[in-house]
Amino acid sequence: MASQAATAESGGGASGGVSRREFLYYVWGASIALIALQGAGLLLWFLIPRFREGEFGGTFTIGVGDVPEINTPPINFAEGRFWLVNLDTTQPNDLMYQAPDEPNPIQGVAAIYKVCTHLGCIYSWTPANSRFECPCHGSKYRLDGRRIESPAPRTLDRFKIQAIADDETTVLAEANLDNDFYSPMTLPSGTAFVRVDTGSRKNGPVQELLCDFQGNCP
Ligand code: FES
Repeated sequence: MASQAATAESGGGASGGVSRREFLYYVWGASIALIALQGAGLLLWFLIPRFREGEFGGTFTIGVGDVPEINTPPINFAEGRFWLVNLDTTQPNDLMYQAPDEPNPIQGVAAIYKVCTHLGCIYSWTPANSRFECPCHGSKYRLDGRRIESPAPRTLDRFKIQAIADDETTVLAEANLDNDFYSPMTLPSGTAFVRVDTGSRKNGPVQELLCDFQGNCP
């Protein structure tokens, strides 16, 4: 009897259900599974991007009073890494003009990414020359982001914009895609805010250099 009791106590035999050894195996397995799950959860939490309003990668809501007047210099939104422009080639102006290969007027608001399409430098607006100029290798762009001079390979990229009503929720209109590139958007009446989604960027198209039309490319 004494030797039977010693065998059961040592965990070697089954005592009607789960032995102590099996129980310990189960606990050990469950612990490993729990640690693996926690690791996977942490990895997912780390990998999934979380962008908030007002943070690059998220949306920026701008009062319509902060949108530039038509055909005036662009407004710099540094936190969002974009310029806001308001274009209308049907109105006489010094900053925006229509090229021979542009059959339709260019009208509306656009949000232009602040990074040069050549090698990624930050370009800026040069008031003296009424155009964007890149300090790194000399690319120049018109107010709407189209290339004037290379080496930039394409027009400046744009972000998606929406016209929002004063309840800050209702979307009155949003920028159309034309050949997978956001067109400028005319703000409908009742627009109180413009929302720029910096998580939704489209590459600018490859268009002829504007300097080609004047025959004055460097
Ligand atoms: S990075 Fe702008 S011209 Fe090269």
